[in-house]
Amino acid sequence: MAKSYYITTPIYYINDVPHIGHAYTTCAADVVARYKRLRGYEVFFLTGVDEHGQKAQKAALEQGITPRVLADRMVPTFTDLWKLLEITNTGFIRTTDEAHRRVVHHLFQRLEEKGDIYLGEYEDWYCIPCEAYFTELQLKDGKCPDCGRAVERLKEESYFFRMSKYTDPLLRHLEEHKGFVMPEVRYNEVTSFVKGGLRDLSISRTTFDWGVPVPGNPKHVVYVWFDALANYLTGAGFLSDTERFGQFWPADAHLIGKDILRFHAVYWPSFLMAAGLPLPKRIFAHGWWTVNGQKMSKSLGNVVDPVETARTYGVDEFRFFLFREVPFGLDGDFSKDAIVGRINGDLANDYGNLLSRSANMIGKFQAGRLAGPAGQGGTDGALLERTTALVSDYEREMEVFGFSKALSAVFELTALLNRYIDTEAPWRLAKEDTARLATVLHNIWNGVRVATLLLHPFMPSKTASAWRALGMAGDIGRASFDEERSFYKPGDLSAIDRIPPLFPRREG
Ligand code: MSP
Repeated sequence: MAKSYYITTPIYYINDVPHIGHAYTTCAADVVARYKRLRGYEVFFLTGVDEHGQKAQKAALEQGITPRVLADRMVPTFTDLWKLLEITNTGFIRTTDEAHRRVVHHLFQRLEEKGDIYLGEYEDWYCIPCEAYFTELQLKDGKCPDCGRAVERLKEESYFFRMSKYTDPLLRHLEEHKGFVMPEVRYNEVTSFVKGGLRDLSISRTTFDWGVPVPGNPKHVVYVWFDALANYLTGAGFLSDTERFGQFWPADAHLIGKDILRFHAVYWPSFLMAAGLPLPKRIFAHGWWTVNGQKMSKSLGNVVDPVETARTYGVDEFRFFLFREVPFGLDGDFSKDAIVGRINGDLANDYGNLLSRSANMIGKFQAGRLAGPAGQGGTDGALLERTTALVSDYEREMEVFGFSKALSAVFELTALLNRYIDTEAPWRLAKEDTARLATVLHNIWNGVRVATLLLHPFMPSKTASAWRALGMAGDIGRASFDEERSFYKPGDLSAIDRIPPLFPRREG
């Protein structure tokens, strides 16, 4: 049976249209999913929407509609975007799905029966946009420490989850699984938070009703984060598809933004421990995008629309930019100049030019055929050795979501190949030494093919065109990474020929 891999994105709130931040996490998960498929994994890739909670209820009220209608209207803005961006998710969850309500009920009751949920009273400072309570001490200048907005004093009867009980087990888990939270700076952040001791967590609300009712006490709705986090179980088939759940749980990776780290790396594992379920293997928190150096906000009117950006610059170019420009895990800045620079530099000049040069030469000098054996003469050995090392670098980085470093390895390879072409000068060999020409062109073809394969998870469409231009018959998405990563002599190959520039240069 194929190896299995389960990756998730956060489920997105439906009170607003998706922006670059949403596109970022989802594209990252798609890059990983595509890469893992090339490596022979059966991938379950889940995304979806988070429909409940006070924020959704408020937004709906402002528009004079019910939260359900609001959600129904907003879901297509997400699913259409994922289609546009060529996202290959295999699951899409809505927290209003009946299967999900059952999971939330089950989980709540399971913890209650265990004595890990009790009824009490809660009073503290509450931030509505973040859907989170804070103590006086946690506030920053009297405002929400996470988003900086005003908080309200709230008091309500509430169910509590005995999170305090999980301080030590969670610390132990962190200690024993250094890769549980990544990158390291986030691991340290979580560890020191847990070391400070966990407080019991309020997990129900009575001040509004848009949510999953607490089983047996419908005056309460389940706290939106308890509800939302459980999506990762529902999506994998918990309680509904035992076989799928057995195959895919625990999740291999939850990709999230750094702002929702505590929910994922503290609350979620505590809930799971209480339920006696295995914990996800890894939580990776990426950084935030700013725009031209400024925080993205509606009031500044600088929110980057992923639909418009992808239409302007191209889907593949946009996806590529997100991961080439900024190390995954750090904050990054979006600007027109930056994306245009990447398109003209990396894509048009380096990779695109290499591809068209190579295909054109093989077309022109050898009628689109590979003639000679791949060679080991002259600089060939060095080229081969270096390529193998760069592919290993790429693989190592992809395993730890080091996308920008993985891409650096690819561009080292394209530079290497461009230099090889300049040194070997096939146009001269065409006149002087056709046997050597055949070997050199064969090596170039192999190098460009490998570079194309490595770029595929980032740029699915353009690399598919490149793959065909290189004479490869099958679909690149179904290629086997293990077979294609090395230099070889192809059997069946259709004609390799001129291709129109894949990445036209852009004016600023
Ligand atoms: N509904 C919760 C998640 C529940 S998961 C069980 C939620 N939704 S959200 O729609 O507000 O945010 C989703 C993601 O978008 C978060 O991972 C967040 O980090 C990300 N981003 C929001 N703004 C961002 C940027 N400016 N840059 C990068 N990512 C950002 O939170």
